Amino acid sequence: MIPTEKLPTVVHAASVQHCIESACGARFALNEQLYVCSVCGGLLDVVREGAADSNAEELRDIWHRRLASFDPRDRSGVWRYRELLPFAADAPIVSLAEGNTPLYDAPRSADYCKLSSLLLKHQGCNPTGSFKDTGMTTAVTQALILGARTVVCASTGNTAASLAAYAARAHLHCAILVPRGQISHGKLAQSLDYGAAVLELDGNFDDAMRVILELAEAPSIYLVNSINPFRIEGQKTVAAELLQQRAWRVPDHVVMPGGNLGNSSAFGKGFKELKELGMIDRLPRLSVVQAEGAAPFARLFAGGASVSPAERGQGSTVDFSNWDVVKPIAHPQTLATAIKIGAPVSWKKALRAVCETGGSVLTVTEQEIADAKAIIGRDGVGCEPASATTVAGIKRLVADGTISRDDDVVAVLTGHLLKDTDYAINYHRKKLYIPEGDDDKTKKERRLKGNYSNPPVRVKATKAAILEGLMRHERKYRDDL
Ligand code: F0G
Repeated sequence: MIPTEKLPTVVHAASVQHCIESACGARFALNEQLYVCSVCGGLLDVVREGAADSNAEELRDIWHRRLASFDPRDRSGVWRYRELLPFAADAPIVSLAEGNTPLYDAPRSADYCKLSSLLLKHQGCNPTGSFKDTGMTTAVTQALILGARTVVCASTGNTAASLAAYAARAHLHCAILVPRGQISHGKLAQSLDYGAAVLELDGNFDDAMRVILELAEAPSIYLVNSINPFRIEGQKTVAAELLQQRAWRVPDHVVMPGGNLGNSSAFGKGFKELKELGMIDRLPRLSVVQAEGAAPFARLFAGGASVSPAERGQGSTVDFSNWDVVKPIAHPQTLATAIKIGAPVSWKKALRAVCETGGSVLTVTEQEIADAKAIIGRDGVGCEPASATTVAGIKRLVADGTISRDDDVVAVLTGHLLKDTDYAINYHRKKLYIPEGDDDKTKKERRLKGNYSNPPVRVKATKAAILEGLMRHERKYRDDL
């Protein structure tokens, strides 16, 4: 039985929800349960009213000292940066010590992209194995503040797994809507184990998103997809963590995958706020990479190629009237199921992030994703297919001169290798098939090449056979790279 009565509301800090549409600009209190502007339907940002309490130097110092603290809020790589968050000191924080993700150097991936160096920010090392945890901790905390009893999301798997875990911590009812047969086993297993009601929908992610928005009209139900601005608040702290790990040196480029476009929106907001606080003096260029068969945002961006950088809003504020609206793709296709999305909800915020920083949006093929994923693996860093779009995209951006060999580049890996082991095993066994054609019913299948595959070697149970098998493997492996 799902309770419908609401718990008492806690009102907090000096921020508001603000409609991003300049023609509207409506403002709402933080404790109004909204997902979009109730006046014009625009997306909402959480914005601080008035000056910050601390200056840049003080914040750097506080955040540095917290690295050695055992206070649970300081052990979280999100709440450590709580001066950036719109929550009161007594907020009922729901945390799994999220964030704290490593920044690896990746020489093989750098070579592959023809860069002198490359860093990988591995958000797959979050508690449930994806970047979603950094936003779920704040969204589920907000659910408690609002007195919601049930939290819901539509998902390609990771949001679901993350929400299921945080809802379990918060003792909230949790329902997730996933496209049936289109999410990886690893992600499904997590959601089941964490006790969520898993509803398998006949349809794709975009159908699930549409229905869940209707469901969330009930006040006791709280929606935590990335349309929810409190998700973005948590996710944006990765910008602070990344810069702190780099002694506040700003990278030239930060490259990430794009699906529903919440993560790119969050990175954009995070960097921009840190610049406004005086913690950095410039913004990294943010670029978004999509899979070729699920690339509505890249299509929109390509359509604006004739818009000049100034009109695009580089260095200032984007005027959306210079742009078309995103045209949904009815049947998105990619084996990177996390980003199999045809109607991205947060495209305006992501467009703002890309344009204001002078970044770009591009697509990569299924073959490029699969090969890049295997190369990332050779650096000893595993990721799921969606995350590998970054290295594939960077290779392209170097080839076309957008990124120079000696640029300082960070690729954001969004999910862990173990999220989708079927994909990895099939690639290495050279049995990875991609659908062709844009409809599940009419599709044909094509086999991908295993250009960097590392198939298991079958051997008889003798010492000689094992030595021979090892030699065969080593010859193949040496020739590969
Ligand atoms: N990478 C991974 C591993 C993801 O799970 C997602 C999105 C993305 C990239 C794209 O991020 O949507 O913020 O642009 N996964 C969502 C989900 C849609 O339901 O788990 P985005």
